[in-house]
Amino acid sequence: MSAPNKSYDPVEVETLKPEEIERMRDEALAAFAAADSLDALHEAKVAHTGPASPLALANREIGALPPHAKADAGKRVGMARGAVNKALAARQTELEAERDARVLVEEAVDVTLPYDRVPAGARHPLTTMMERVADVFVSMGYEVAEGPEVEAEWFNFDALNIAPDHPARTMQDTFFIEAGKGEDSGVVLRTHTSPVQIRSLLHREPPVYVVCPGRVYRTDELDATHTPVFHQIELLAVDEGLTMADLKGTLDHMVQSLFGADMKTRLRPNYFPFTEPSAEMDMLCYVCKGASVGDPDRPCRTCSSEGWIELGGCGMVNPRVLTACGVDPEKYSGFAFGFGIERMLMFRHNVEDMRDMVEGDVRFTRPFGMEI
Ligand code: FA5
Repeated sequence: MSAPNKSYDPVEVETLKPEEIERMRDEALAAFAAADSLDALHEAKVAHTGPASPLALANREIGALPPHAKADAGKRVGMARGAVNKALAARQTELEAERDARVLVEEAVDVTLPYDRVPAGARHPLTTMMERVADVFVSMGYEVAEGPEVEAEWFNFDALNIAPDHPARTMQDTFFIEAGKGEDSGVVLRTHTSPVQIRSLLHREPPVYVVCPGRVYRTDELDATHTPVFHQIELLAVDEGLTMADLKGTLDHMVQSLFGADMKTRLRPNYFPFTEPSAEMDMLCYVCKGASVGDPDRPCRTCSSEGWIELGGCGMVNPRVLTACGVDPEKYSGFAFGFGIERMLMFRHNVEDMRDMVEGDVRFTRPFGMEI
């Protein structure tokens, strides 16, 4: 059995020589100092502190040394590795700070720059109002019907029992497109949505339940309560056994759906050539609910303290209209009503001037929000 190798000198192991350890440490420190980015530093870290780095390999050699030589070599390698790790952490902190400062400059947002993005649009409150009203009837089973805005005089007037000498046919109210010749009907911009009643009856077999929203035209001056181009919504129901009670119930349901459960309507006698009997329909003022009437301490701007707001016209479909459309008035009866959407928007949202609705200023439409 051979004697222990007392003459083994750790200095003989090349990688554990003090100057060799110092060289490894200095190389690592130089590599960290030279790294000019976090990526470069990561590469230097792997090369000088990873499992295959010179100092890690030197560390592995220590295990093979005799016990008395281990302490010295271990201390040398440990100190070198400590210095390397410290330098690495310091450079890491330095480069991260540099990166953060650079990102702050490069990605800075100049909040004073002019805003050049086109703001998201929304539908006009008149459109959403019209659809909200139509939806009330669609949910009751009514069908949405539409007709042309450039309309035959026959549909706009004659078929609705508006005689040629009726004042509404004069140049005062109507935009005429083409004069009629002999038997041929003239052409007008429709003055109301009622011609859609006729088109609906001609194209459907009773029972007919239609709601007709649309744009209409009259030669009215643009002012706070009138516009030459406005919107109406028309309702027509033709079936067996319909009465004024059905009309009244339908009107009440509409105002309750739109304005609240405690709303109601009232009818005042009126005249429309296409309905008989005809009525003007009012709804209870949704603001004061009638409480302002006769009470000077509680004036109501919405209804001018009248307690009621005028909505539009209505009535039982004139048998002459049914006959003109080929519907037997002995078998069928019907009711119809029509009102202006601009007026409804005015009192539902306290809009004081109708001109605001047509001028296209987004300061008017924006408060209505992004409703679609
Ligand atoms: C009619 O147009 C009838 N076709 C309504 C009708 C339908 C009656 C079915 C019976 C049966 P009138 O001319 O009153 O009726 O107009 C109805 C509504 O349109 C008015 O109450 C008002 O709200 C609105 N209106 C009329 N002229 C203008 C205008 N120049 N600008 C804005 N709204 C208007």
